[in-house]
Amino acid sequence: MSGEVSLGIPEMPAPDYPADVRARLENDAREVIARYPGSRSALLPLLHLVQSEEGYVTRTVIRFCAEVLDLTTAEVTAVATFYTMYRRKPSGEYQVGVCTNTLCAVMGGDAIFEELQQHLGIGNDETTADGKVTLEHIECNAACDFAPVVMVNWEFFDNQTPESAKAMVDDLIAGREVRPTRGAPLCGYRQTARILAGFPDEREGAVEAGGGAGPASLAGLKLHRGEVAAARVVPPRAEPAGTDVTEEDGE
Ligand code: FES
Repeated sequence: MSGEVSLGIPEMPAPDYPADVRARLENDAREVIARYPGSRSALLPLLHLVQSEEGYVTRTVIRFCAEVLDLTTAEVTAVATFYTMYRRKPSGEYQVGVCTNTLCAVMGGDAIFEELQQHLGIGNDETTADGKVTLEHIECNAACDFAPVVMVNWEFFDNQTPESAKAMVDDLIAGREVRPTRGAPLCGYRQTARILAGFPDEREGAVEAGGGAGPASLAGLKLHRGEVAAARVVPPRAEPAGTDVTEEDGE
């Protein structure tokens, strides 16, 4: 008989939280729900909130969200299994995502992902035995101008190489400080999930750290404003002399 195929959907019925945990989560949930004109709109941040409690979407999570939002467990499950930011099984303290979308892939993302798998001894969506790192390949994170990009708990690590990525995960596993290339300092997955649920980031300097566009992102804007000279764009294949395409030609 062939083995069962798991879709990662929690089975129902689910156990409830202990009374004290439930009361605390309900309190937080009320705060989240109050931000929206319709309570069902709060489902995405609520799923982050409960991930900050359990680390992934358990069947108790599904039950809780359904009850506080007056949805069916099927409706909550449909959303939780659609978005990749919601985990369906226990995972690591640090979610290391390597962008393997087209631009990052050709700029080295595929090589980084391959070498990290070998270095950590795990495959895609697997976690190291110490529970520190979950490795996954991710889609474009809108940071293509810093390709190849690695995300750790959704913080940016730009312009990576296989060597820099391996050193970074070694530091994470060893508990050494790791700083993203830009933006707020790194924190554990559950703390990140609570921030994504919309609760204040109270870490010192985290809000001031910003994380806005870097020089590479602003190059096009500067070109448009005439703040830098237009560069010549050379076609990838050799053309007869004198036919190089310039910005002016491209208009
Ligand atoms: S292709 Fe990797 S961030 Fe866009």
